[in-house]
Amino acid sequence: MHGVPPSLSARVVGSFAYLTVRDRLPTILTKVVDTIHRNKNKFFEEYGEVGIQAEKQAISLLSKLRNELQTDKPVLALTDGLPDTDSWNQYLERQQRLQGDQEPVSWFKSPWLYVECYMYRRIHEALLLNPPISDFDVFNEGKTQSFTESSQAVMSLCTYLEGIKNNIDELSKNPLFEHFSKLMQVSLWGNKCDLSISAGQENSQKTSPLDSLYSLLPFILVDDTKRVWSALISAQRPRESGKNNADRVDIVLDNAGFELVTDLVLADFLVSSGLARQIHFHGKSIPWFVSDVTAKDFQWTIRQAMATNHKWVSKCGVQWQRYLKEGMWCYHDHPFWTQPHEFCDMAADAPDLYTTLQGADLVLFKGDLNYRKLTGDRDWEHTVSFETALRGFGPATLCSLRTLKANIQVGLQPGQGEKLTSQDPSWMTSGKYAVIQFHNPKSE
Ligand code: F6P
Ligand code: MG
Repeated sequence: MHGVPPSLSARVVGSFAYLTVRDRLPTILTKVVDTIHRNKNKFFEEYGEVGIQAEKQAISLLSKLRNELQTDKPVLALTDGLPDTDSWNQYLERQQRLQGDQEPVSWFKSPWLYVECYMYRRIHEALLLNPPISDFDVFNEGKTQSFTESSQAVMSLCTYLEGIKNNIDELSKNPLFEHFSKLMQVSLWGNKCDLSISAGQENSQKTSPLDSLYSLLPFILVDDTKRVWSALISAQRPRESGKNNADRVDIVLDNAGFELVTDLVLADFLVSSGLARQIHFHGKSIPWFVSDVTAKDFQWTIRQAMATNHKWVSKCGVQWQRYLKEGMWCYHDHPFWTQPHEFCDMAADAPDLYTTLQGADLVLFKGDLNYRKLTGDRDWEHTVSFETALRGFGPATLCSLRTLKANIQVGLQPGQGEKLTSQDPSWMTSGKYAVIQFHNPKSE
């Protein structure tokens, strides 16, 4: 294939993008309206009549949004005057220029990635325009429930981590690699637990994630774990303490609930094993794609872990809080993560974030949406290399840990995609398959 392929779009009737815009997005909006309505009494108790009016107005804006979507109306400029409003409106103009003057940018005719991100930003706008309830996270219930319902899995994972940490100094390289590889896989499969693929249906981890890793191996279509490991080892530098470790690993987080716990456990392992000295987490500054991590979710999860009755879970929670306090871990939420850009635009459109990521020895991108943004959410052939699909994006050595939930997958062997399609036509969207896909911009 020559040149850059087109963006995935609901324009292709019957495609996953089409089904998402036609069915899944309106379902999510309906659930958002229900959630706000169910919390009516809470708003009344907190803010009196003003709260009730805010509830009504937010619902009316959201119902209008659902109608615009379902009737394929033009995408409207934002009006809420947040710091990122201009950037969203400029992006709309950019889309319009790309699409030409013949037809307006609209829900079914424009890039799926763009309109889907725009929907979440409009949900935020509907609340923001109604000040007393502007802080209300319409997705909070689902996220906390997903954490609570995964408690058995959280316990077994924290117990496993504490077991490793107890004799970590005696571990030679091979067993250390085995633990690293397992925890990468746990974090990978943790990405199954996102609430937006199920339009907010319950999606937690009920069993121990460690027990099923072996049986899931055949479903990892690309496994670059060894390359990630080598990158960490070669990034190790002599430190004053005498320990050799990579300076910094960044984790671009995806979902709250069980997936976040798997990421915290991986981060803890990296630091306590000496594979990294610092972890920078990147989350979302507004509620996003139903279950994505915000600063509140991040803090809540650590506090919940600390307060648990289970010895090892609470020990983990206390340790995580300490890492944050001592600056070995830190949390950032740059607005670029909640904008619709492909990541190849980051250097030009969010140069400060690009520079921040350049300071990392390794950046782990969690989840499906990050993969879509890494590859531009385009109709690439499966055999196109990951590097080609990144289109120059490479602030640092990077790796995507993603379960497949959108019609896009690059970097496969010739014939691999065709074989999968014949065996399992929904392989790209069911969340059953996954990749650990690596890129080192310096080695290409
Ligand atoms: O609805 C679209 C989508 O981007 C899917 O591709 C995926 O199901 C979900 O939203 C986000 O998944 P993740 O939480 O893994 O980024
Ligand atoms: Mg998500």
